[in-house]
Amino acid sequence: MSNVVYVGTSLDGFLADRNGKLDWLESIPNPDNNDFGWGEFMERIDAIVMGRKTFETIMGFGRGWHYPKKVFILSNSLQSVPDELKDKVEIMKGTPAEITDELNRKGYKDLYIDGGNSIQKFLMDDLIDELMINRLPILLGGGVSLFGDLPKHMMFEHISTKILLNAMVFSHYKRKR
Ligand SMILES: NC(=O)c1ccc[n+]([C@@H]2O[C@H](COP(=O)([O-])OP(=O)(O)OC[C@H]3O[C@@H](n4cnc5c(N)ncnc54)[C@H](OP(=O)(O)O)[C@@H]3O)[C@@H](O)[C@H]2O)c1
Repeated sequence: MSNVVYVGTSLDGFLADRNGKLDWLESIPNPDNNDFGWGEFMERIDAIVMGRKTFETIMGFGRGWHYPKKVFILSNSLQSVPDELKDKVEIMKGTPAEITDELNRKGYKDLYIDGGNSIQKFLMDDLIDELMINRLPILLGGGVSLFGDLPKHMMFEHISTKILLNAMVFSHYKRKR
């Protein structure tokens, strides 16, 4: 059972720029449409736990729903999801421990935790087991941070690092408790 983060960040650690924009994530030419292990990662996880703001950003793209696994949207304010997503998406709330326990009990063992604020809450409670971070060679100077304050140091073991398209550095770490 693992809670895993898989994100693209700027060199200065942002997930989105000051205007919430993500276009810089596609700033490196990718002529072969390499998915950088995304498909393999999706097969490995059982469900996605996504912050409400990330959900709204994805809905705003208007590119349709592309997640092959069930998505649990974390929100205290969202009341419903669009009809066409009713069997693919559920709204949840609670502490990271409550959310993890409930989903694990339902058989969702490996969870992909997504969204800056959501990831930070899980980290705050030491409930992130793996970090998969693809760093792009850009400084955004501000925006939505991947990391925030933590109550203690947290060691991670380095599993692997790949250089993608001779431009991005994709590293995989496991929490060392
Ligand atoms: N670069 C990347 O790979 C990447 C990945 C993911 C996201 N992003 C970007 O990051 C931005 C969104 O991140 P964000 O930090 O603003 O927010 P977020 O984590 O997506 O959403 C935050 C919201 O999630 C809800 N939430 C979080 N934890 C909760 C809990 N335990 N229980 C109930 N609700 C909870 C709250 O919603 P309510 O206010 O409704 O209560 C909170 O306001 C977007 O621009 C997105 O595109 C980028």
